[in-house]
Amino acid sequence: MAFDLVFFGGTGDLVWRKLMPALFQAYRHDSLPEDGRIIAVGRDDLNDAQYRQQIQTRFEQVDGAKRPNNEEFARFAQLLCYVRMDLSQPQAYAALKSRLAQRETDSVVMYLSTAPSLFTTVCEQLAAHGLNTAKTRIVLEKPLGHDLASNRAINQAVGQVFKEQQIFRIDHYLGKPAVQNLLAMRFGNALFEPLWRREHIANIQITIAEELGVEKRGSFYETTGALRDMVQNHALQLLCAIAMEPPINAHADAIRDEKLKVLRSLKRWTPETLSQHVIRGQYSAGHPDGQSVPGYLEEKGVNPSSSTETFVALRTEIANWRWAGVPFYIRTGKRMAASEAHIEINFRPTPHAIYQSPMGQANALVIHLQPKDGLELHLLAQGQSKRSQAGQGQTLSPVHLDLDFDKRFGSQRVGAYERLLLDVLDGRLNLFVRSDEQEEAWRWVEPILKHWQNDSLGPRPYAAGTWGPSAASAMIARDGFCWSEET
Ligand code: BG6
Repeated sequence: MAFDLVFFGGTGDLVWRKLMPALFQAYRHDSLPEDGRIIAVGRDDLNDAQYRQQIQTRFEQVDGAKRPNNEEFARFAQLLCYVRMDLSQPQAYAALKSRLAQRETDSVVMYLSTAPSLFTTVCEQLAAHGLNTAKTRIVLEKPLGHDLASNRAINQAVGQVFKEQQIFRIDHYLGKPAVQNLLAMRFGNALFEPLWRREHIANIQITIAEELGVEKRGSFYETTGALRDMVQNHALQLLCAIAMEPPINAHADAIRDEKLKVLRSLKRWTPETLSQHVIRGQYSAGHPDGQSVPGYLEEKGVNPSSSTETFVALRTEIANWRWAGVPFYIRTGKRMAASEAHIEINFRPTPHAIYQSPMGQANALVIHLQPKDGLELHLLAQGQSKRSQAGQGQTLSPVHLDLDFDKRFGSQRVGAYERLLLDVLDGRLNLFVRSDEQEEAWRWVEPILKHWQNDSLGPRPYAAGTWGPSAASAMIARDGFCWSEET
């Protein structure tokens, strides 16, 4: 299957950090369709050989196991070429057109890894140059707008040039193996479904914590913040995967219809829930692992009196028959105590206790997304402790069933961007976000953004290297629960 894959923003960070290494892995795994060409588009004055050289140098910064040796790179580099273009200049698109006209392909993928402000222009120009044919697919990287109106404007502009089936909106969390396994666990096994509801589940917690700060992206982050950067997209997509009803089949629209229903059922915000169930934080200087790191306000590109949040914790509910009354907690932040993402499903305790259990212990299922990828089932069991032998009551101890997918599937594992790029080349939309889903997610986060605009208190400080402001623990404690690391 011959393909041309065009990277707009071809010299940018995302291309060399994520996309090229992912394509190289696919090439190494022999899963990249044959007869492909990767065309990078950028403003720098480079020829094909110079671009290949640049990518080879950049590969030196890539994680060791994913790095090609010279011979491998030389073969992979044959696929790479470069077109110099200023995307804001209509006449520049002729150069791309003639490159594409050099050969017949089955598909052409236009990957927009540029500033979103260019999305509309690029789509218009692709149409003006006849580059939006039936075999063209377009990939859009986030952020797709900064609120509902700007998101709609982008979706409308792109929708005038491409049909929805040609549009691949990336949320790289959907490409993570653990998220696909969450769906497989729910819909490929009968075991959990009877328990997967309000009668048996006490609460659900989604945590996406990062140890890193904003790094070199201070000025980008200033206009973004954790709610737009992580909650509107990644965290809500995880919530959908947990809460959706079984789709009628495995087709993209069947899955996306069910996710949309979850987003539509999220409880609407009220002034009371906005002030009590949403906590925003901002990291201050701290000493994680004994090393001192600056606070957010001292980061490059950040306004010293900024009120941008680097942490969000919130509580919501899904107003439908399956989930009514079950709290869903979402928590994400930068410069936190650990880099890890997991979902914890906390089951209700047994209805009648004949054993003594350690305080607050009940069954839990933990879905680890990263760094570990696996499932952990927390059970209670009876060890032969001397105490119980002496007849002083039978006490249970927590035990874990631990499934490590990396160990089990090892080298067959496919990374998020590799999975998503292969899916785009294959025309498979299952793991991509439809415009109505995206708009619904914006509709839900917008009241929070508006509330913050009028809230002079600003974000609560938390020291770098901690789990965020104590108000986040207080919020969940009011329901009688605690975050997973506090058990
Ligand atoms: C991106 C955000 O979408 O996801 C980043 O813009 C964040 O701020 C990143 O660091 C986290 O992704 P991952 O895969 O490293 O958890």
